[in-house]
Amino acid sequence: MKKVLILLLTMVMAIGLAACGTSEKASKAGEGKKVLVMGTSADYAPFEYIETEKSDEIIGFDVDLAKAIAGKLGYKVEVKDMEFNGLVQALKSGQADFVLAGMTPTEKRKKNVDFSDIYYTAGFMIVSKKDSGINKLEDLKGKTVGVQLGSIQEGQAKEIAKTIDIKIEDRNRIPDLIQEIKSGRFDSAIIEDTVAKGYLTNEKDLAGFTFEAKGVEGSAIAFPKNSDLTEKFNQELKKMKENGELDKLVVKWFGGEQK
Ligand code: ARG
Repeated sequence: MKKVLILLLTMVMAIGLAACGTSEKASKAGEGKKVLVMGTSADYAPFEYIETEKSDEIIGFDVDLAKAIAGKLGYKVEVKDMEFNGLVQALKSGQADFVLAGMTPTEKRKKNVDFSDIYYTAGFMIVSKKDSGINKLEDLKGKTVGVQLGSIQEGQAKEIAKTIDIKIEDRNRIPDLIQEIKSGRFDSAIIEDTVAKGYLTNEKDLAGFTFEAKGVEGSAIAFPKNSDLTEKFNQELKKMKENGELDKLVVKWFGGEQK
């Protein structure tokens, strides 16, 4: 009898756990609307960042986009700050329902997560001190170049290293890259141009130039493999592209038009 009871209990627990294993695993009940957890790396203005002097809230283009899409689908969004390099794993382990982090849909990532269509396209920029004399890729010869760990900028640095002798260093957060340039530990960093431009505006001793790179660019929303959210989000994203809502967000956060 006892054994049967234990067996029954185990079954009930297993079913309970399985029910949690859906794409809305991280959601919380209550408040009427279901909550989706958005994983991001809030070091990436204007995509996602914290205006520390104002509040500790994560704001930015990606947050607005997430809230707009999720809202249309009847969800609320809870934004969770993580390290960029851990975001794919966060999706795999169910810590996040989706990721909006200016993330590029690379072939490698596609093996582990699914992506929406691209919602914004940008390029690469080399950021250095103004007086560094680094004005083109060749000038990087013998220099230390910083990149965000796990980013496509890291991949791009490795690509450059095939033909130009550079030393690659990585950091978890973009502001750390800027700090290391300012302190002289790095000569340069490779940063997405939209994000780099923000720093160039505020840090008068920094300068940058863009360069043509082959391969993927642009940002998409990432989901756990086979999540039923992927298609739903993509549908809404399409509508927002068509009806001009996405452009409005681009103007609000990037102050310009989509490339
Ligand atoms: N687009 C680049 C990539 O996917 C960098 C994104 C970094 N995002 C961030 N929130 N720090 O690798």
